[in-house]
Amino acid sequence: MKKNKSLKVSIVMGSQSDFKTMRLAAKIIKNMGIKVETKIISAHRTPKRMYDFASSAEKNNIGVIIAGAGGSAHLPGMIAALTSVPVLGVPIESKKLKGLDSLLSIVQMPKGIPVGTLAIGEDGAINAALLAASIIANNNSIVKKKLNSWRLFQTRSVKKSPR
Ligand code: RP5
Repeated sequence: MKKNKSLKVSIVMGSQSDFKTMRLAAKIIKNMGIKVETKIISAHRTPKRMYDFASSAEKNNIGVIIAGAGGSAHLPGMIAALTSVPVLGVPIESKKLKGLDSLLSIVQMPKGIPVGTLAIGEDGAINAALLAASIIANNNSIVKKKLNSWRLFQTRSVKKSPR
């Protein structure tokens, strides 16, 4: 693996339909000055693509993988089984069960192969990006500064009283 400064975040998702949620994560990662790539990878529709991606993640300088999936959402767990690069799972809000199916699939990984699970939908995508940036920031002072500024901006934007 190359120096931590060049580590990128890979955002993968099971379907094009997940992109409206996952693009929020990509935007934040870019704003943090971290290299980002986005890919459609489905554990069941494109299993070979998933295998090739996950098994070469470390070699490809990926520092964190954010995986969004909906329904029977096995993508984050399957990727985590194939690499020791940290995997953050975003449960996509599904039509029938509002993402509860996705959440339970991702969060209930049996011991041994962890997936960090975020909230359902857009909040999860945004927090996955912020968490990925925190992980990268451990060894990257520029990202650390950007992350701290982002938080300061957020704190300052909260009004003291409602209108
Ligand atoms: C999952 O199935 C995807 O992650 C997506 O959330 C869900 C539905 O996919 P589409 O039928 O919209 O392609 O694999």
